[in-house]
Amino acid sequence: MKHEDMIAHARQVMSDNDRGTYTVPTHGLYPFQWNWDSALSALGFAQFDEPRAWTEIETLLAHQWEDGMVPHIIFHQPDDGYFPGPDVWGTGREVPTTGITQPPVAGFAVARIHDRARDKALAGQKAREMLPRIHAWHQWFYRARDPQGTGLVALLHPWESGRDNSVDWDDAFSRVPTEGVGDFTRRDTTHANPEHRPTDAQYKRYIWLVQKFRSLGWDNSKLHDASPFQVVDPGFNAILIRSCEEVADLAGRLGMTDIAEQSRAMADKGLAAMETLWNDALSQYLCYDRKLGQQIESPSIGGILAVFAGVPTARAEAISRRIAKLAESCEYLIPSHDPTSPDFEGLRYWRGPVWLIVNYMVADGLERADVTEMVGRIMGDCLRLIEVSGFAEYHDPITAEPCGGAHFTWTAAMIIEILHTHEFAA
Ligand code: DGY
Repeated sequence: MKHEDMIAHARQVMSDNDRGTYTVPTHGLYPFQWNWDSALSALGFAQFDEPRAWTEIETLLAHQWEDGMVPHIIFHQPDDGYFPGPDVWGTGREVPTTGITQPPVAGFAVARIHDRARDKALAGQKAREMLPRIHAWHQWFYRARDPQGTGLVALLHPWESGRDNSVDWDDAFSRVPTEGVGDFTRRDTTHANPEHRPTDAQYKRYIWLVQKFRSLGWDNSKLHDASPFQVVDPGFNAILIRSCEEVADLAGRLGMTDIAEQSRAMADKGLAAMETLWNDALSQYLCYDRKLGQQIESPSIGGILAVFAGVPTARAEAISRRIAKLAESCEYLIPSHDPTSPDFEGLRYWRGPVWLIVNYMVADGLERADVTEMVGRIMGDCLRLIEVSGFAEYHDPITAEPCGGAHFTWTAAMIIEILHTHEFAA
């Protein structure tokens, strides 16, 4: 496919999912605004419509909670096709939202869109308006999700990671009870192949946690300690650290010195703490179970995505070698779980499939560290997947089978972004 045709197709996907002031990830399966989908999709918009890109993130931040949290879903309009909807969350917001958060990639996106903006005046104005809100969100993370001040934040629900059913959570998640959850009807499996989605047993635990946090009034000063699930994810922390780094840099240039200094301090502390998650044997970072006080030996993409933050060059080099090793057991990089592991499932959501947004962030981190051997291969595999299988939510790393939802906003946004920022033979 010609690159201009691919971009035209991607723009069509984005415009079909555009609801004016926000995009839905895909019609049917995800009919509302998702936090990290929006921030990453804004990068695609910015390549052809900067005002629309700013609006996407502005809408997200308009629903920030008073304590600083930016929720994972904003239920702008009623839609019975999704479970769990606003009635299950019961957060009491005027425009309903969920009560948990998602990877804080908005700080990175704002800085990137600002720095390459054609409309500099608009970019300066938007960045000035948004940085204090994003900074408050980052501060919320270290206050509410790192009460002991370790430098690393914990996830309290697998949905916060964005990597909902990763193998990383299996052991910790098995300690989440299911008693008393009651009956419910999933809706995701009516829109997508159940083989590509989390299991019913996982859904029971997802809902148990929602009910637990709801019973605590969504009070973030209580949730961390009360949660039976507290997992530190290197990928998630890397996104937070990178966003703090970018906010520090941009705020400094815009003369917002308090935000700059505080952001730099959070990033530095986080980066130092990331070292505790490194695993030499696997040549990647690993998750950490805060409840048990031990590393989780699960070779997933979370520990590779860690390169998105400014980790030491030796770590970036080791991660690049790790990706080269993964390439020996799959056709398309980067699998979300090691294909040689017994837990690998090529079609099932975050237990194996390739996600273009992750490829983009990993490649960006490697480029920033100037460790570029694998970058062309990773970016090229994104294009090959779309050529073979279209703009799916995720793809099997061995067969390229398209999985999950079709006609997917952030997949399209990544293709637009990648084709504008990288060189490929036509
Ligand atoms: C879902 O509903 O599958 C979402 O990933 C939760 O955020």
